[in-house]
Amino acid sequence: MMLSPLILLSLTLSCCCGRNLPPPVVNISLDDNPEMRWAPLLKVYDIDYLKKAAAEVIDTTVPKWVHQAFAPVVVALEKYIPQPYAGEIRGMASHLGARLSDIIMLNFAYEISAFCTSIIAQDTNGHVYHGRNLDYPHDVLRNLTVNVNFLKNGEVVYCGTSFAGYVGLWTGQSPNKFTISGDQRGKEHWWEWWKNVVSAFLLRRSPVSWLVRETLEGAENFQDAVMRLSKIPIITGVYYIVAGVRAGEGAVITRDRKGPADIWPLEPLDGGWYRVETNFDHWLPPPARDHRRDTANKALNATGQAHINIDSLYQVLSLYPVCNRITVYTTIMSAATPEKYKTVVRTQGCHNTD
Ligand SMILES: *[C@@H]1O[C@H](CO)[C@@H](O)[C@H](O)[C@H]1NC(C)=O
Ligand SMILES: *[C@@H]1O[C@H](CO)[C@@H](O)[C@H](O)[C@H]1NC(C)=O
Ligand SMILES: *[C@@H]1O[C@H](CO)[C@@H](O)[C@H](O)[C@H]1NC(C)=O
Repeated sequence: MMLSPLILLSLTLSCCCGRNLPPPVVNISLDDNPEMRWAPLLKVYDIDYLKKAAAEVIDTTVPKWVHQAFAPVVVALEKYIPQPYAGEIRGMASHLGARLSDIIMLNFAYEISAFCTSIIAQDTNGHVYHGRNLDYPHDVLRNLTVNVNFLKNGEVVYCGTSFAGYVGLWTGQSPNKFTISGDQRGKEHWWEWWKNVVSAFLLRRSPVSWLVRETLEGAENFQDAVMRLSKIPIITGVYYIVAGVRAGEGAVITRDRKGPADIWPLEPLDGGWYRVETNFDHWLPPPARDHRRDTANKALNATGQAHINIDSLYQVLSLYPVCNRITVYTTIMSAATPEKYKTVVRTQGCHNTD
């Protein structure tokens, strides 16, 4: 039986004030052929809804003439997409009965215009916490937010939060090893987006969200994750925020396409018990109209290192404007206690209540 997300959501709505909801969870087995492995999505989503939602994301991201003109080019480039993504994207198109070019575009559409806040913090006992808000100006993404467990031999090897139809990850956890979030660096436009697509395919650079997935799958520990996220070439600049399982294991990596521009670690012995990254280089002031960084810093100072934990971090991430009109979801996690990984969908965003 297909349960539509609308039914699922309305069932849960009646018991949670209609504001913040847990997303559905799907198990994706990496032992399955890439073209088949996303089929479980259809157990929690209605196909017609997914198709409409995908079309809406593409239409609002890519001008119509570009969409039409580039569809054949995108299909021709498909042979350059590395595995397993090529297979997964192809499979997604066939599960949804959608055009391959649309699903490829959808996967690249999410590579741009994500505004976010990520925070890492260490308490006085040396426990490290990691939280993130993902902001994106498409209401429909709230209904597409999904927690994905990636399994091998029936065991969860890593997990993350994504959008139905998308094969990359902006948020994820390798249990008992490390957690990662990605925040967009700078503002990109659709014409730069095409530069990105071409550089992905022809120069074989990784989309930023694919590198998150590969790191979750392959890195041995925090150090290894920081190394990979710093050095492997990617299609566009980004901030990678990483936290580990031991005291001091936390860093904000500012990325250029080819390598790290800066690495900003936690320095708990020198008062640096937390780091806040939004969408601007941490050594520069943010634009005057953007108060997210300052609000988060103040709230963390007010919380204090002795009182930081998963719940108080969630409170900081719930403050306006850290959480704002376009916030889609909040995830809080701590790799040392992987079962506490939690995502909350902000069904109506957050609004200024002053
Ligand atoms: C998301 O789902 C809710 C609840 O069923 C529905 O009311 C809303 O219209 C959907 N939003 C979008 C943008 O599709
Ligand atoms: C996903 O797999 C895990 C580990 O095998 C299992 O405990 C869990 O019940 C599964 N969840 C779903 C939604 O199938
Ligand atoms: C937070 O506290 C630190 C250390 O005391 C201080 O340098 C910083 O200015 C404070 N930030 C805000 C926004 O209050």
